Amino acid sequence: MRILSVASEAYPLVKTGGLADVVGALPAALSPHGIATTTLLPGYPAMAAATRNGRVAHHWPDLLGVEARLIEARIGEHPLLVLDAPELFARPGGPYADADGRDWGDNWRRFAALSRAAADLAAGTIAGHRFDVMHAHDWQAGLAPVYARALGAEAKTVVTVHNIAFQGSYDAGIFPALGLPASDWSIDGVEYYGQVGFLKAGLNAADAITTVSPTYAREILRPEFGMGLEGLIATRSRQGALHGIVNGIDPAVWSPDADTALPARYAIETLGRRAANRAAVEQAFGLDPASGPIFTVVSRLTWQKGMDVLVETIDHLVARGGRLALLGSGDAALEYAFLSAAERHRGRVGVRIGYDEELSHLLQGGADAILIPSRFEPCGLTQLYGLAYGCVPVVARTGGLADTVIDANEAALAAGVATGIVHDGVTPGVLIHAIDRTVALYAEPNRWRMLQRSGMQADFSWSRSGQLYARLYRDLTGSS
Ligand code: ADP
Ligand code: GLC
Repeated sequence: MRILSVASEAYPLVKTGGLADVVGALPAALSPHGIATTTLLPGYPAMAAATRNGRVAHHWPDLLGVEARLIEARIGEHPLLVLDAPELFARPGGPYADADGRDWGDNWRRFAALSRAAADLAAGTIAGHRFDVMHAHDWQAGLAPVYARALGAEAKTVVTVHNIAFQGSYDAGIFPALGLPASDWSIDGVEYYGQVGFLKAGLNAADAITTVSPTYAREILRPEFGMGLEGLIATRSRQGALHGIVNGIDPAVWSPDADTALPARYAIETLGRRAANRAAVEQAFGLDPASGPIFTVVSRLTWQKGMDVLVETIDHLVARGGRLALLGSGDAALEYAFLSAAERHRGRVGVRIGYDEELSHLLQGGADAILIPSRFEPCGLTQLYGLAYGCVPVVARTGGLADTVIDANEAALAAGVATGIVHDGVTPGVLIHAIDRTVALYAEPNRWRMLQRSGMQADFSWSRSGQLYARLYRDLTGSS
């Protein structure tokens, strides 16, 4: 079975968050199940090395108003197709925004073009490329199933919602430039409260919808989480089209016994070696040695992630003997608030504003606990990395966090199955209580070791989720 996976980012070529990790890991996750995955990505400058010497598989003189080519390349061992459209993608800055963080004004055209190219592939009109299923990720690929329908493509279509908060809504004035049939300007097409809704259109047109955890699939049926799309999601759910499949982690990138970013590699039997990584964290973040736990945060600094609440608990965390090493970037006000806390608590709180893949590995391999107080979290990957690395996750009970961490209550501790600390709600009081519980457990080395060990033993490899995606594809295509 052949799958076309369409997305705006994929590790290791271009990454701003968990979407990239998942899209990058899918081909290897699916191949044991007899599924060959080709990934389609935009031709950002970061793709130049991957596409050099690549064969040109197709040429569009006019793809939504620009000239474009499709280039065959590889991502690891797996096939990659790159949409080379310099007018849309050959520019400095990030995949979605310029160097100052302003979204590109033509994002609608950039990602509509990506979706249109995907649909041509799904329709089999590009020689040498045939697919049974087109799997589109997030709003950036949301129009792909809509174009595929317009082209009469036979491939089945799946849309995965990694985060329903980002929907890709644009002024109705862009509709003519999308090149869709006039009938798609309707509630069954792209129209969404008088605008063009990329994600909405994809959710409506796709044969199946998946979310990145089962709990998130249920949550987005409710207005607090559905962000306006809960009615449509409920309809698709009644049709049997909604599935929750939790993300896995890529062992080639996230294994503490083989991680070259760590000064000391270790496994479950050699947890003591983490001490060297812990010392490296202290040094990198200017933390004075102390006996309490080192908490870490590796995150976008945003409201979703509960970072505004966490800021308010730092004085308490320090007063209880904890230290904090934070790596993140995002809202300017939050960046400033964390930097001020570091000023106030020199030697206790260290803050690094920015994006640093290597440092994120060191923090998982050296800090004691990772704080993830998200208001909503479709899946979350940093708690999974924490589990694999013996960096105990302290998480809000929502979305994928609720599905992957087992709270250290007395019963779970007695049964030896607890893997972290789970709190209900995200307020300063609730978070302070979770911090207190963590500090208390850390002071009991036997219990703490047990928490670390049961987390490291938990299986968050892709094997089960790869199988679930494979089953979904087979159900859709009617193959056995
Ligand atoms: P989201 O995609 O919502 O940001 P996830 O937990 O799914 O959240 O994934 C975040 C990914 O981005 C993880 O791989 C995490 O390690 C990484 N990450 C987040 N912030 C940083 C940062 N400042 N530096 C390095 N990696 C980061
Ligand atoms: C989104 C979500 C995150 C999820 C990631 C990968 O960025 O915010 O929870 O882990 O996608 O699916």
